[in-house]
Amino acid sequence: MTQRAPQIVILAAGKGSRMKSARPKVLHGLAGRSMLAHVMALAAKAGAAAPAVVIGPDMQDVRAEVLNAAPAARFFVQQQQKGTADAVLAARQAIDPQGGEVIVLYGDTPLIEIATIKRLQRALGGGAAGEPDQDGAAAGRRAAGAAITAGADVAVLGFDAADPTGYGRLLCDDSGQLRAIREHKDASIEERRIRLCNSGVLGLRAAKLLPLLERINSNNANGEYYLTDAIEIAHADGLAIAAISCPEEEVLGINTRVQLAQAEAIYQARARHRFMLAGVTMIAPETVWFSHDTEIAGDVIIEPNVFFGPGVSIAEGALIRANSHLEGARVGAGARIGPYARLRPGARIGDQAHIGNFVEVKNVTLGEGAKANHLAYLGDGSVGARANIGAGTIFCNYDGFNKSQTTIGAGAFIGSNSALVAPLEIGDGAYIGSGSVITKSVSPDALALERSKQQERPGWAARFRDMMQRRKTRT
Ligand code: UD1
Ligand code: MG
Repeated sequence: MTQRAPQIVILAAGKGSRMKSARPKVLHGLAGRSMLAHVMALAAKAGAAAPAVVIGPDMQDVRAEVLNAAPAARFFVQQQQKGTADAVLAARQAIDPQGGEVIVLYGDTPLIEIATIKRLQRALGGGAAGEPDQDGAAAGRRAAGAAITAGADVAVLGFDAADPTGYGRLLCDDSGQLRAIREHKDASIEERRIRLCNSGVLGLRAAKLLPLLERINSNNANGEYYLTDAIEIAHADGLAIAAISCPEEEVLGINTRVQLAQAEAIYQARARHRFMLAGVTMIAPETVWFSHDTEIAGDVIIEPNVFFGPGVSIAEGALIRANSHLEGARVGAGARIGPYARLRPGARIGDQAHIGNFVEVKNVTLGEGAKANHLAYLGDGSVGARANIGAGTIFCNYDGFNKSQTTIGAGAFIGSNSALVAPLEIGDGAYIGSGSVITKSVSPDALALERSKQQERPGWAARFRDMMQRRKTRT
């Protein structure tokens, strides 16, 4: 039996003052996209094509980020940030009481895995009870976690915090049944000793949601309407409450830049692990940085200190040498990049091609086996198969107003220190003499050369040295 898609509400209205930033908290990024984009991707994996997103007034940039990920998303503006329960109520129009379960996600909690959301759904009876998890890791976590009660009215995702400071604590009654969530600021000294914390992820049967939220008040240390108070009310009403747990690293909530860096570290550790198990060699994996969408095929070797920005794919057997920076680039099978190479958006490196040290490539397609081994800028154009680009070659692609294309044919040879002033076409097999400034297109198999004639004065250097030496000894 397949699980039906839950109704998803994402809370993103909080400004996040502890980030000390002009930018809304949820737009701060990790692994090449905003934390909100990570949460949007999770909602999409859960099958919610049109999640309800709660934003603050004047959050056009947050709106744009959401629409980029989910054009069908619905927005609800929470006028004042009066707490997480108030935020969910702002989206009340989105909730269909007959529509199965509702899952609330926080925009500042980007590392949750889909298997965990599915477990939460199952606790609510939103899927086939006992349906096996897709991956073994998730099943292992389930065994380590609290018991799952299928058919619950409310399900909370908790975790054991190494340092619970700042998180809401899960309070259980004598039978181990979750009875309330106490926010850190409101907790007694005893309650603060509890390490079982609230992740913020909450699932509820849709029919129960609004009646519960409407009864929440703001009698607490912050004077806010806490979503977490729904648990105590549900418990008093005798509703079935389930708590499931997951590893802390999945539910790290980001309130400060220190936590943002911790989340990045967790994300990167996971990505490195996944790539190595999939057949990628990394000499110093802790120095290699990936984006959320990096694609790397088997038998690729990555040397230390390599950074992958968004939009990179590397084909089988390529070698990415130390200290290279890649973004928006495609690298062909068996190609060699770096050390110290920079591939920018639109770099398309053919199979077996070589890009060497201090070479920058932007918006250029390099054919199979083409080489640019040293100190060059290749911007806007194409390089044919097996062409050789000498050291110091520059594609002069920009005149201050427009970008123009440089097209180099197959097997062409560009001598060192050539300036190729675009627009320009260099034919197959053509030769460019070193140091030339080429402004006109070159025919196939021709030699083009643009430099003044060399002069030679026999014996001049010896006479010069002699003269200078004599002058020096006289004084
Ligand atoms: C919240 C939980 C806490 C949990 C922790 C996990 C509450 C009351 N507390 O605390 O139990 O341990 O997350 O990380 O829910 N937001 C709004 N409108 C508001 C307030 C917040 O949209 O009026 C949004 C924020 O943008 C954020 C999310 O809700 O994405 C959580 O708010 P935040 O202020 O970060 O809550 P925490 O103090 O972290
Ligand atoms: Mg938070």
